[in-house]
Amino acid sequence: MTQDWIERIPELGLLQETALREQCVAVFTDACRQGGWTPKELDAIPMTLGYPGAPSLRTHIRAVARLAHQTFMVFRELHTDTRLLPDYPLLLAGALLHDVGKLLEYTRTPDGDFTFSRQGLLLRHPFSGAMLAAAHGLPDAVTHIIAVHAREGDGSPRSVEARIVNKADLLHFESVRDLLAASSA
Ligand SMILES: [Fe+2]
Repeated sequence: MTQDWIERIPELGLLQETALREQCVAVFTDACRQGGWTPKELDAIPMTLGYPGAPSLRTHIRAVARLAHQTFMVFRELHTDTRLLPDYPLLLAGALLHDVGKLLEYTRTPDGDFTFSRQGLLLRHPFSGAMLAAAHGLPDAVTHIIAVHAREGDGSPRSVEARIVNKADLLHFESVRDLLAASSA
């Protein structure tokens, strides 16, 4: 199971902490089960229903995890003061799981399209994702990253790791949105 998920989302393999990695895998597995998806469908589910042509949820999760990873690498390379380093395992786990709640927020329409689920209309993915993470015993610092990564977290205190994930998420989300808009103009 874990190996299957690492093949699907290779950035899970960057997590050296076995227990944390297993918890992340358990959250992905449970989210698929609860949402009625197969893991393979992460390639079909769009990263957003907000604009057409968006990359898959799997691609977005990988992009945000990579951007968070690279941010840490820049800090580690340039900062000799170790106080100026975010917590890598928490940062990466939060980046990997930040949108896992979309597996509960979205559902298929009878004709195979994607739409918001009944639960998703009441609890957006930061809430459902945080609930999943808490249920699987993820550290509060990871649940926090999921909970505040989107607009619900604006105006709330964000940890450094949560701020990096928030910005990495927007960097990918808004860049893709604007590139698609520019290409169709
Ligand atoms: Fe996202």
